[in-house]
Amino acid sequence: MSTDLYDVIARRRDVRAEFSGEPVDLGQLRRVLQAAHEAPSVGHSQPWDFVLVFDEDTREQFADHVETERRAFAEQLEGERRTTFEKIKVEGIRESGLGVVVTYSPERGGQHVLGRHAIADTGLYSTCLAIQNLWLAATAEGLGVGWVSFYREEFLADLVGLPDGVRPVAWLCLGPVRHLQAVPDLVRHGWRKGRSLDEAIHLESWRG
Ligand SMILES: Cc1cc2nc3c(=O)[nH]c(=O)nc-3n(C[C@H](O)[C@H](O)[C@H](O)COP(=O)(O)O)c2cc1C
Repeated sequence: MSTDLYDVIARRRDVRAEFSGEPVDLGQLRRVLQAAHEAPSVGHSQPWDFVLVFDEDTREQFADHVETERRAFAEQLEGERRTTFEKIKVEGIRESGLGVVVTYSPERGGQHVLGRHAIADTGLYSTCLAIQNLWLAATAEGLGVGWVSFYREEFLADLVGLPDGVRPVAWLCLGPVRHLQAVPDLVRHGWRKGRSLDEAIHLESWRG
């Protein structure tokens, strides 16, 4: 048995502050995107696309928008939650050098996507699996990934020119890192402790 995969899974982190600012190697980027593209998908519909945003001006515009949304969220918080949140960096859009916008196209795969007739969300699930493959492959390559979701979908769709009906699912900051933290940022900063595996396992029934 190889433990390499388990090691990569354990080392993977959501990266905000550790990007080195160096450009991503294009060979590595290609391999990471290939890994994403090999994800399972409902009806083999492969409903994802990857918009690669290197342009500084576009990243700057996105970062400004994210800052507005970060502030909007902060304003919903009070007391200790507010103070704790304000210490947490929620993106590395400028520092990472590359934004990968992962999108979901519900039309992909035609009218009868095998396995999606009862659960429309399976298309979205498939796209998230591509993201997870990308994230793990990037970790194996020594790159960092940070998922940013502090944005309005219409804003990002417009910014990167998505066709009607194509949804942005994630803005992924991607780039070389100085190191990966051993502990998730939200745990380190006291936002959430996380739960144990035993709390998540239910035997036979949720009620059991
Ligand atoms: C759907 C999704 C959206 C996320 N959005 C953000 C975000 O906007 N900003 C951020 O800093 N981290 C974001 N994260 C990262 C999580 O905060 C992170 O995965 C979690 O705290 C666990 O840390 P780890 O990924 O380092 O294990 C997101 C993660 C997921 C899966």
